[in-house]
Amino acid sequence: MFNFVQGQLVSIAVMIFILGLIYQGIQFFKLTKKKEWVFPPLPVQNKPEKKTAEQWMTQCLSSLNGTLWETDRVLTIVTSVFHICLIAAPLFLLGHNILLDQSWGLSLFSFPEFFSDVLTLVVLIGGAYFLGRRLFLARVRAISSIYDFIVLFIAVAPFLTGFLAYHQWGEYKTIILLHILSGELMLITIPFTKLGHMLFFFLYRFFIGNEYSFVRGSRTW
Ligand code: HEM
Ligand code: HEM
Repeated sequence: MFNFVQGQLVSIAVMIFILGLIYQGIQFFKLTKKKEWVFPPLPVQNKPEKKTAEQWMTQCLSSLNGTLWETDRVLTIVTSVFHICLIAAPLFLLGHNILLDQSWGLSLFSFPEFFSDVLTLVVLIGGAYFLGRRLFLARVRAISSIYDFIVLFIAVAPFLTGFLAYHQWGEYKTIILLHILSGELMLITIPFTKLGHMLFFFLYRFFIGNEYSFVRGSRTW
């Protein structure tokens, strides 16, 4: 059991994660098509004039109008820091890179262990903040279902168990088994749950035209 979870199941989870994301990407392009016309008609674009540094700054700041930054600054900061740590912690973790090196002969740069530990704690605090919002903020609770709690749990579980394992709290063998299982669960569910926003965030904002687009979208459903 332990050998399977630690061995083949890791490869299976990584394969499902990568192939699942590729599949969802292909589905996106199959289900959308190139826009044939744009309404209202686009104004004729004149050659853009060179902007001064000051005009650039003003434009950058005004592009934040109407975004989450304007409505909830704390949430904007928490979610940004949460996401940076969530991605950086497992990728640049010494423990992971040693395993990666042993099994596939490749490894990334690793943070000092203390630093990774702090990033892990930051993810846990961010997760607690999201949980608190869903439990105690009436307007967030009103649109939360059990699905949202399960997804949040799937995202945070590898950090909780990784943290416990690193500090050797609880019975190590059980905790590390739970850690690996929760990491695999996260990888497998990313392409097929709303955690897929890891991919869809970029597809929607760069390809579909809407009020949240970063560019003028060229595709439509
Ligand atoms: C899928 C296979 C995985 C394996 C085999 C694995 C294995 C390990 C091992 C051996 C450790 C070190 C524990 C120690 O020092 O005793 C660890 C720590 C950790 N893992 Fe994983 N892991 C996996 C997936 C993940 C995933 C998907 C995430 C998060 C997205 C994750 C996040 C962490 C974190 C944050 C720590 C360190 C916590 C700390 O230092 O405070 N792991 N993992
Ligand atoms: C890589 C690019 C990613 C981008 C651009 C991104 C973007 C976002 C955005 C815009 C939100 C909504 C704002 C908010 O409620 O905080 C969000 C929420 C969230 N994301 Fe991501 N995300 C990414 C990757 C991930 C990954 C890999 C995971 C975990 C596997 C993840 C887990 C979450 C969670 C748990 C929430 C909010 C939970 C809640 O409201 O209960 N994200 N993300």
